[in-house]
Amino acid sequence: MNPSVPLTQTTAWRALAAHREETGDRPMSSLFAADPARFERFSVRGAGLFLDYSKNRIDERGLALLTGLARERGVEAARAAMFGGERINNTEDRAVLHVALRNRSGAPVEVNGSDVMPAVREVLQRMGDFAEAVRDGRWRGHTGEAITDIVNIGIGGSDLGPAMACQALAACGHPRLTMHFVSNIDGDHLAAVLGKVKPASTLFIVASKTFTTIETMTNATSARRWFLAGGAGEADVAKHFVAVSTNAERVAAFGIDTANMFGFWDWVGGRYSMWSAVGLPIALFVGRDGFEAMLDGAHAMDRHFVEAPLERNMPVILGLLGVWYRGFFGSASVSIAPYAQALARLPAYLQQLEMESNGKSVTRHGQPVDTPTCPVIWGEPGTNGQHAFFQLLHQGTDLIPVDFIAALKASHGLADHHRLLLANCIAQSKALMVGKSAAEVRAELSSAGLAGEALEALVPHRVFPGNRPSNTLLLPDLSPRSLGALVALYEHKVFVQSVIWGVNAFDQWGVELGKQIATRIAAELAGGPAGEHDGSTLGLITAARAAS
Ligand code: F6P
Repeated sequence: MNPSVPLTQTTAWRALAAHREETGDRPMSSLFAADPARFERFSVRGAGLFLDYSKNRIDERGLALLTGLARERGVEAARAAMFGGERINNTEDRAVLHVALRNRSGAPVEVNGSDVMPAVREVLQRMGDFAEAVRDGRWRGHTGEAITDIVNIGIGGSDLGPAMACQALAACGHPRLTMHFVSNIDGDHLAAVLGKVKPASTLFIVASKTFTTIETMTNATSARRWFLAGGAGEADVAKHFVAVSTNAERVAAFGIDTANMFGFWDWVGGRYSMWSAVGLPIALFVGRDGFEAMLDGAHAMDRHFVEAPLERNMPVILGLLGVWYRGFFGSASVSIAPYAQALARLPAYLQQLEMESNGKSVTRHGQPVDTPTCPVIWGEPGTNGQHAFFQLLHQGTDLIPVDFIAALKASHGLADHHRLLLANCIAQSKALMVGKSAAEVRAELSSAGLAGEALEALVPHRVFPGNRPSNTLLLPDLSPRSLGALVALYEHKVFVQSVIWGVNAFDQWGVELGKQIATRIAAELAGGPAGEHDGSTLGLITAARAAS
């Protein structure tokens, strides 16, 4: 966990730099031509998922050097430290044990000498019991109506995971339940949801690890006011508001009975928390069995991560390829392209997972990093992205690796749609790799009847440079189990990269400064005395005050 040598000074990094120099811009197509078994060799299965990473600018030697880098940086020891409950989040002095939340093995997991599994199982049992009671109508609102709408109020890790998962698993959600997610402090977000639901049949989940987050507390307070204004009394709140938090004191102070609280622990990071009580909306929507199937999928990926040799280890390979492009190709961003409308929120979820974890410029020991770290993560579902930003992926000036993600089996009956979806997904990875040469463009244009200057003028515009890398991840289906494996895969990929870059993936000090300043400015906007500001900030505050 403590690589003290700067990354660029390691033997493996130097060897990789030399390898990059030697192999230059060698086309990936030539690697396929030289090795008919490349697809088999550069693909891997794990936890029911299939990863084709053959369309990458990497050969056997490059991969061996990358896994050598992982060994030299201590990925295996770091992995053991995380699974062993060591306090690897050194700046917050905490263990990092989201894997315990989906530990389905029956084995104990110890933090400070005590087994956390009985408490994990107890909360899981309560979540399941509560979810089933709401689903089958035993838990009712204060007027006796069954719950029809669930409003999760949370932000960041207390929102993105459950929101992403409930959308992904809509096909197996409870037909009576409509899921809503309110995160933004912008009143439009809450107002839009409250405009659609009825107090008597709505259940609010106030989810916040700390129970201090201003957005969540403000939204929860307004939701409670709205609920009471609908004719309910204080005693009815218990039927309509539950809390998910690590902070029982704050939950009670807010006015939610701690009997209606589902707890978790400081060793669960916000962005790693959808497996904990933060996943309550998922359990409500897909039921106890569905939620546990998601945990099973994640656990299967945990086993793969722990047991597979680095050379055949899916999260390790994904992580290493990311480090390769970031470090040696200048790739400053990675595009996530789920070819599944149901995974529309996956890019946003991964933005927090990756960028809040590895968007750091000092090492765990506080030294400046000596290579670029986390790239910008962005994306949209295919095929929509093809009609928007894929132009840049194919012909822009940057090399942007793409992760294509698709489910082999559709959860709807429109087979022709699914064929077209998969065809497009496969076609895009091929197009990015093979590109189109000037000679091919000329042949195409001349068979369309063009010639001479008119033809030549168009050639540069219609050339595709190709040699642009991508991974393709195939899920058997969009089931809770596959989704669990997919999310765990990215969690471990992020962890591998953090170890190589030498950063702490589990703190997030970079979100604090803006919060502190916003608190001061909010007081000023509310009429408090003006503070010391630069000209721009003061001008904006003055404009906002004038408009209020
Ligand atoms: O501001 C960032 C952050 O702390 C995230 O790390 C976290 O997921 C989110 O805010 C919400 O925090 P909480 O669950 O404590 O409300």
